[in-house]
Amino acid sequence: MSILFDKERETFFLETEHSCYQFRITRHGTLQHLYYGRPVGETCMDYLTRFADRGFSGNPYECRHDRTFSLDLLPQEYSSFGMGDHRVPALKTVLENGSRTAELRYLSHEILPGKLCPEGLPHVRQGHSACETLVVRLFDEVSGLTVKLFYSIFPAEDVIVRSAQIINGSGQKIVLEKAASASIDFPCGQWDLIHFAGRHCMERQPERAALGHHVLSVGSSRGMSSHHNNPFVILCDREVTEDSGDCYGFMLMWSGNHRAEAELDQAGGVRLVMGIHEDGFSWLLEPGESFRTPELILTYAAGGLNALSHNCHRLLRENVCPPEFRHSRRKVLLNNWEATYFDFDTDKILSIAAQAKDLGVDLFVLDDGWFGQRSDDKAGLGDWFVNEKKLPGGLARLGSALNGMGLDFGLWIEPEMVNEDSDLYRAHPDWALRDPGRAPMVARDQLVLDMGRTEVREYLFGCIDRLLKEAPICYLKWDFNRSVANLFSSALPAERQGETATRFMLGTYALLFRLREAHPGVMIEGCAGGGGRFDAGMLFFCPQIWCSDNTDAVQRLRIQKGTSYGYPVFTMGSHVSAVPNHQTGRSVPLGTRAVVALSGTFGYELDPGKLTGAEKAAVRDQIAVFHKYSELIRSGRYYRLDRTEAEEGFTAWAFVSEDRCEALVSVVDTNVEGNPRFHHILLKGLVPDAVYRLEGSDRRFSGAALMYGGYTLPQMFGDYPAAMLHFAADHNAAYDE
Ligand code: GLA
Repeated sequence: MSILFDKERETFFLETEHSCYQFRITRHGTLQHLYYGRPVGETCMDYLTRFADRGFSGNPYECRHDRTFSLDLLPQEYSSFGMGDHRVPALKTVLENGSRTAELRYLSHEILPGKLCPEGLPHVRQGHSACETLVVRLFDEVSGLTVKLFYSIFPAEDVIVRSAQIINGSGQKIVLEKAASASIDFPCGQWDLIHFAGRHCMERQPERAALGHHVLSVGSSRGMSSHHNNPFVILCDREVTEDSGDCYGFMLMWSGNHRAEAELDQAGGVRLVMGIHEDGFSWLLEPGESFRTPELILTYAAGGLNALSHNCHRLLRENVCPPEFRHSRRKVLLNNWEATYFDFDTDKILSIAAQAKDLGVDLFVLDDGWFGQRSDDKAGLGDWFVNEKKLPGGLARLGSALNGMGLDFGLWIEPEMVNEDSDLYRAHPDWALRDPGRAPMVARDQLVLDMGRTEVREYLFGCIDRLLKEAPICYLKWDFNRSVANLFSSALPAERQGETATRFMLGTYALLFRLREAHPGVMIEGCAGGGGRFDAGMLFFCPQIWCSDNTDAVQRLRIQKGTSYGYPVFTMGSHVSAVPNHQTGRSVPLGTRAVVALSGTFGYELDPGKLTGAEKAAVRDQIAVFHKYSELIRSGRYYRLDRTEAEEGFTAWAFVSEDRCEALVSVVDTNVEGNPRFHHILLKGLVPDAVYRLEGSDRRFSGAALMYGGYTLPQMFGDYPAAMLHFAADHNAAYDE
């Protein structure tokens, strides 16, 4: 049993294999968080909390004679605004009379087998995992508001999935101004927050900040999870390294506006609140209505950041990504975007495709520009009808020609967007989000459709369903190329305008649910100007996401490494593109470009006709390497090996098979010096007393030697040299610890 309620101590014990989470009902009916961390046996961790009368930290009325009981000081389970907890709240409400206070007290709880799945939201699937769910009901007597807190425990995965539902059981209207998915208070510790910041073409760069007496707030109000701040943060001990120390991952299953707030309080405790961003958010609850927050994935690891990443990777692979693609080998694709941009016709496409096929490519993806009057990025979005001038005979003819060559067919779309210069916008200007009487904010000449409207979703479903039926399309690249502004929906009354951004995201999810159900065999690759919507919400529908519009291999090293803290390599769209690179102007050798792209879904984004004979031969070899190692890359444990503080410009990483019999190490040197030093790596995750052989040599090493003594690489020369090393255990037996 992973959930225990100790009646005597009124304490909940939530246990996973390597973590334990405790909270209790206080004598005044509030929920007090006690502990989250390494298992501690049966000890109740209430002794960690010390009670003191601190000035200016008031007391609930019923304990006014006990000045040591203050909601301002006690660690809470789900903090609400108004009753004297002056730290960052999880819940903010407004009653009809204007009162902004919510006072939540324990009402009841139940422990249920399995995972409860929130309707209309992407969620952690139970899959083959054992799981139990605790539902705790909290009640505010004055307003009649009920809050349900959900805790689904995945013991083997070391994961707790939290979410909340706010139910208006009163006879009056209640407005939510903030409804976070969870808050969690750590009573003590020295903490850093790691978050993943960036910009278009430079996504998910880790930043680490010590928590102080301020609110550290990271998030996005761009209507998308964004290039700028990812909905994944890590709270960790100040001493944490890749391989040691306590760390906690918080990953929101939501692709829209989000925020994580972390605060060190006056008593040395730390609070983390995470959920939908409150800027621009409000939600009206009529009597009887409820609001369900997105799920927040919590995971704890005692063994440093690599171990934390393993927890996230395994959960996303096994319990989040669509099951149809969980274990399947990805097809090697060629995408024509950087090869042609908008300048193509059938002949050009078929010539590129034929050469791609000859190199060993499996799937051809036709990118932007095949529809409406789309000769550049100023027109056509919304008109999802093939441009017969460019592609006579339409997608059916093109698809069957590709299939005839032995290639699968993939197609780019950008459903949530519309150009003013489009038939769709001319017919339905009110379908775009825009404020009355105001010129809209435009970006890339496009506006954003109001996905909360049923008729918009009906139109888009009709278009995409038709495309998938009329042509043999097995892959969609689903793009999203601007931030959302002008959050006004012509379909909502004034008092509900604050719901627009959330309804937008729920509408997109509704469309994705429907399409996935109608076409389960079609793989959808997520994309948003590269990696602007790389999050667990999208991964629920899309088993892979284009990691960045920046295809420069040197920059990709940083982008993919940053992404790897939360997300598995096999979800990262990664292609070899032409040089000089279109984003940076840099020229990186073809071999290095492939080493970097191989740590991803792998494919090409170039015109194969421009490759020399030698380069074509190299590409054939690269595809063979992909086939050889794709299973190890997909299912192996990913370790970040480099110690960047010591060796700037040297990046190393490895995949180690689950049975630890095989390791594939990749290294890239982006800073070759004169009289170069030898790079030295320490492998990780091997069996110490197993014997491994380095492929291509007769050398044998014990796992211990490779992990504790390490391996010294030959000197590396030239521009951005790279290498891959494969170590395999001498026999295939699975090793004991
Ligand atoms: C975005 C994508 C690119 C490409 C273009 C097409 O930027 O990230 O890969 O599809 O749109 O307009």
